[in-house]
Amino acid sequence: MDAYEDFPLSSFISSQSRAAPLVSGKFSDLGVDMDLKWLLVRRITLVAFACFFAGSGLALYMSAREAHLQNQVLAELAGRQLELQLSRIERGTDTLKRFPDWDLISNYALKPGQCVQFDGLDPARNRSSCSGLEANFITPPAWFSEFYGRFLNRHLSGSRLLTYRGEVQGAISTSFDPYATSSKAWTNISPLLGLSALLVGALCLVTYIIVDRSLRPASNILTGLNRLAEGDLKVRLPPFQLAELNRISQVFNAMTEDLEKATKERADFAHRLVDMQEQERRHLARELHDEIAQRLAAIGAMAACIRNSAQADAPQLVGEARELEKMASNLMFALRRTLRYLRPQEIDDLGLVASLRALVEHHNENARGRTIFSIEAADEFESLRSETSAHVYRIVQEALTNAAKHARARTVKVRMSEHSDSVRKHVRLSVIDDGVGQHEDVNLDRMSGSGLIGMRERVTALCGTLTAGPLPVGGFGLHVEFPSSPQGA
Ligand SMILES: Nc1ncnc2c1ncn2[C@@H]1O[C@H](COP(=O)(O)OP(=O)(O)O)[C@@H](O)[C@H]1O
Ligand SMILES: [Mg+2]
Repeated sequence: MDAYEDFPLSSFISSQSRAAPLVSGKFSDLGVDMDLKWLLVRRITLVAFACFFAGSGLALYMSAREAHLQNQVLAELAGRQLELQLSRIERGTDTLKRFPDWDLISNYALKPGQCVQFDGLDPARNRSSCSGLEANFITPPAWFSEFYGRFLNRHLSGSRLLTYRGEVQGAISTSFDPYATSSKAWTNISPLLGLSALLVGALCLVTYIIVDRSLRPASNILTGLNRLAEGDLKVRLPPFQLAELNRISQVFNAMTEDLEKATKERADFAHRLVDMQEQERRHLARELHDEIAQRLAAIGAMAACIRNSAQADAPQLVGEARELEKMASNLMFALRRTLRYLRPQEIDDLGLVASLRALVEHHNENARGRTIFSIEAADEFESLRSETSAHVYRIVQEALTNAAKHARARTVKVRMSEHSDSVRKHVRLSVIDDGVGQHEDVNLDRMSGSGLIGMRERVTALCGTLTAGPLPVGGFGLHVEFPSSPQGA
């Protein structure tokens, strides 16, 4: 499998030739389910529905009040009528047998669906009657009749005591048939309900269209912000008609322009800095090699010569000469180590891949079998610039040192290969181990020691990308990709 594929890019450190992502995730990933458009539409719809219910409630209340009033009027009318009859009976113009004269009340005073009842002192004179329903009432749905009967109808009845000369003669109670009142109420409010529902629907649609059109610039701004958050510094916003939004666009564009400039300057600076550092090291290494190493070799040779001559002429000097020889050889060993650190000779003499193999071998020797370091390099990478080769060497060197130091791995694999896309060739480099990956006491966000920072600077100088961090399958991975064609590397 290609090294790129077994290394997910979700890791914690990254560096790119453009800006690193400023904010992880997009607007839609931030746990916010609803955007502004839907929020506004939902709120306006809620207000419309609230108005709709309030209007319906008011219509119901008015119809109930009217029914209650009609019951009171009927009770009053019936009471007066019966009181009048009682007075006629007292004056002898009417007979007690005809009390109560109910026809007068039941025939003329009752509204459709209305009932009236008289409970007198003598139960034999009790009367009650109801009028029929009006044919043009609209039949209400069952839920409405149920609701009306349960909550409203019982409060609609009217009543009145029948008193004559200060004495209670009975009681008159009036009410509406529950079906009649709910039908009447439904007949009154159903056209209103239909119209309101239609209006609410139309209002929601119009609101959606208006809000959608007014917020179109906001979606442009959001797209720009998302692209900026992903690190695209080339993004610019168009001018808007609204002055406030236009100002946002101007400031956004000015800021991204500044950011792009600053990022480019920083990358150039890092590029020059690490290149100069490499050149300086190479120069130092050459000086040390040509001057000090030559002279040390001469001192060693001279000490050997003195030892040889002293064996015959002055044996007491043999020990000192041998000491001098050993000192020269130790110094040479230390110098070689410093030279390797400053600039491995193999990079110039043997090429990049051979010096990386030597580096891997060196780590294998140090690990004494506890960790197996290996390298796979498909190409020789002879065409890379000398500075580029040095950067790659240093990156691998630091990654292997880190693996030896932190990973406690069984295997550490270095892979290097070249790929081309439609525009240019790229070098892909990965160092993957199967060690501990992430130490529990290490905060990943702040896990950037000087080693990783140095790597990042070198990758910036290579105009490439770097990703490093613990792998989901365990272990630690580092992936670097940079353009190898002349204009990039
Ligand atoms: N191969 C690895 N395995 C586990 N942890 C690692 C590995 N490489 C780096 N780290 C972690 O990243 C941190 C930063 O590394 P680095 O920048 O090289 O600093 P240093 O090596 O000086 O600690 C290390 O301290 C270590 O916790
Ligand atoms: Mg390190």
